[in-house]
Amino acid sequence: MCGIIGYVGDRNAVPIIVEGLKKLEYRGYDSAGIAVYGADSFDIVKCKGRLSELEKQLAGHSLASHMGIGHTRWATHGEPSDVNSHPHVGSQNKIVVVHNGIIENYQQLKERLEHRGIEFASQTDSEVIAQLAEYYYNGDLLDTVIHLSTALEGSYACGIMCLDEPDTLIAFRKDNPLIIGVSEHGQFIASDVPAVLTDTDKVYYLDDKEIAMLRKDSVQFFNLDKEPIEKTLETITWSFDSAEKGGYPHFMLKEIMEQPKVVRDTVQSFADDGENARIIEKLDIANFDKVVIAGCGSAYNAGVVAKYVFEQLCRMSVEVELASEFRYKDAIVDEKTLVILISQSGETADTIAALREAKSKGAATLAIVNVVGSTIAKEVDFCLYTIAGPEIAVATTKAFSAQLIVLYLLALELATKRENVTDEVRQSLRDDIAALPDKIAEILEHIGAIQKYASESVGSKSIFFIGRNIDYAIALEGSLKLKEISYIHSEAYAGGELKHGTMALIEEDTLVVTIANCASLYRKIMSNAEQVISRGAKVLLISNNPEAKKSVGEFGDGSSEPDDRLSLISLPEINELFSPSLSIIALQLFSYYVAANKGLDIDKPRNLAKSVTVE
Ligand code: F6R
Repeated sequence: MCGIIGYVGDRNAVPIIVEGLKKLEYRGYDSAGIAVYGADSFDIVKCKGRLSELEKQLAGHSLASHMGIGHTRWATHGEPSDVNSHPHVGSQNKIVVVHNGIIENYQQLKERLEHRGIEFASQTDSEVIAQLAEYYYNGDLLDTVIHLSTALEGSYACGIMCLDEPDTLIAFRKDNPLIIGVSEHGQFIASDVPAVLTDTDKVYYLDDKEIAMLRKDSVQFFNLDKEPIEKTLETITWSFDSAEKGGYPHFMLKEIMEQPKVVRDTVQSFADDGENARIIEKLDIANFDKVVIAGCGSAYNAGVVAKYVFEQLCRMSVEVELASEFRYKDAIVDEKTLVILISQSGETADTIAALREAKSKGAATLAIVNVVGSTIAKEVDFCLYTIAGPEIAVATTKAFSAQLIVLYLLALELATKRENVTDEVRQSLRDDIAALPDKIAEILEHIGAIQKYASESVGSKSIFFIGRNIDYAIALEGSLKLKEISYIHSEAYAGGELKHGTMALIEEDTLVVTIANCASLYRKIMSNAEQVISRGAKVLLISNNPEAKKSVGEFGDGSSEPDDRLSLISLPEINELFSPSLSIIALQLFSYYVAANKGLDIDKPRNLAKSVTVE
């Protein structure tokens, strides 16, 4: 995720763009840059690092222009560096571009352009847009953008300027957001409304495959057939604070809501020509007789889910280790072991240490990381990226969901290479995974029941989470989410374990969240639920089992009337191997609304930090 901004008008574009970038920095802060229209060339200043670095550099330039574009980057293709920073200009210095998104066919386009002698300066997918635009340019930037829109695959929100067209700023998009701001002194493009709110509350929302052509005192919209289109000018009524969170009260809720897109983008990275697919291709699974997964906190919990998926699909034994333990245990790993490290930040000290320990023993290492260019990403043998974008809330949500997707697809590819699954089964499992974004969106559209249940659970002293098999794995994450943001004590147990001690903690009205998606174990987990209900507990059932609705009326006094000690959050049906991706949405929302009802600082829970770089 990156932030883009552009301005054309009566005022100097430079301070306007810098102020706009400040509002967009939450979208990425690997590098920042600005390009403004100059007399006979573009003036471009860009550098690695935060926006403050760019500001220092700008202090040494006397940049001024009526038109310009700016960018704050969250790196996906190409490490954070000066040269990979946006804006990108073509090699004729004629067309300059800022881009948010991923150009999936950039490699093919780049090779074609290179065959024609065009030299690329950066490792980014985005530079291909500027180079291709120069290649297509025939004296009309609008024609060029239409041509580009048919050639580019993937997602993009772009601002583009051409040296031959001193009054024209063009914006176009597909699958990434763009708004057009209209003010008395000029027109804006931006990734998000906060970037323009200082100057105007009047915006157009650009839709997919629409083009906006901005001049100092006009904005025109076109479709890809170059036909003019009418759009409605909207008035923004949000405050600055909430707007920075996309209108949500907390980043955590915003990030929960982003999960359909994050999951879709991460699945896409495993498409035939996707970056992650290419990495997996290089992995020689026949080499390994053992898989070890290590991570901390939620990343560890993703590993526990993965153990069930890998063992089921690949029929090989998988160990899951807390990275903080693995690093000191003189682990039995060697060159026949694949060690998988999971980390959102790629900077967690214990996970880095586990990686180094595994490497020192000769194991092959593979990491699943969200932050491009992080230490783990650089040091590991193979790196698969989660396409989650920057995660700001300390409690992970969307990065965890993206980790699950990478782990499912990794397990599936390894199972295919080991010939544990047929091509038909592989395809059908891939279809199940591809169906997840819509099913997640379905849960997000019906959050009323979860909100209500959460508001009734605020007073709980202790909340337990139980499940069996893969439902137990996701219960671990549900419990961690709740305790870290709501400060309510919580534990997760395998359903069958309760009777071995924990049952002693069940009191009148203790809440036991029961996850029940494994069809073959449904009766077993429901019998565990019944055991706690008969000792006074209340059960919140999270299930996609068709039996669940009936079960709600089966307990307590044996009548068919709903029992107030058993409530149900129904999930969409899905192959049970991938059901954690749906359960976790309900569990995240439950935790979020419990904490919200308590009025807590959800994005920055006490005593915690986003990236734990110390032991
Ligand atoms: C919990 C959470 C933490 C992280 C853990 C590892 O919501 O965010 O438990 O999962 O600190 O961090 P990364 O994934 O950055 O290595």
